[in-house]
Amino acid sequence: MAPQYRERTFIAVKPDGVHRHIIGDIIKRFEQKGFKLVAMKFTQADDALLQKHYSALSKKPFFPDLIKYMSSGPVCAMVWEGLNVVKTGRTMLGATNPMDSAPGTIRGDFCVQVGRNICHGSDSVESANTEVALWFKPAELVNWDPVAKPWVY
Ligand code: TYD
Repeated sequence: MAPQYRERTFIAVKPDGVHRHIIGDIIKRFEQKGFKLVAMKFTQADDALLQKHYSALSKKPFFPDLIKYMSSGPVCAMVWEGLNVVKTGRTMLGATNPMDSAPGTIRGDFCVQVGRNICHGSDSVESANTEVALWFKPAELVNWDPVAKPWVY
């Protein structure tokens, strides 16, 4: 498959999304859009992993609360693949602050406050590659053929 169709992004349902049973809704939107799931794990992230994941924000005043929130329960970590999946994934998520997220976006439809915005999505191809490598081992990324099989009709 041409390389532009192999772009990957890191999407994670945060602890509040897990507690509110929104994992399925978020997966459904990425599936319906036409993207391909290549990895998924349900995991409790530790502080060391989260501090690396959010290292660019370490000087922000909300950083300690962010780490506490992200480690407060399990997350559903995923890798999705497809044409422009990083940028489109961000559009599907909506603005960081749900107050500004358009209705129809994930954050626009499911949450109200920035400190509990239910879902993460990589903000560039470069950070997607870094985040995928941080959360997944290469062998956990599944290369599979999305073309319909003979028994799908
Ligand atoms: P950021 O990387 O700026 O946004 P995004 O998740 O959309 O890429 O911020 C990371 C997370 O930090 C954000 O999803 C929610 C949290 N956060 C706050 O709690 N308060 C804030 O003022 C901001 C900007 C972010």
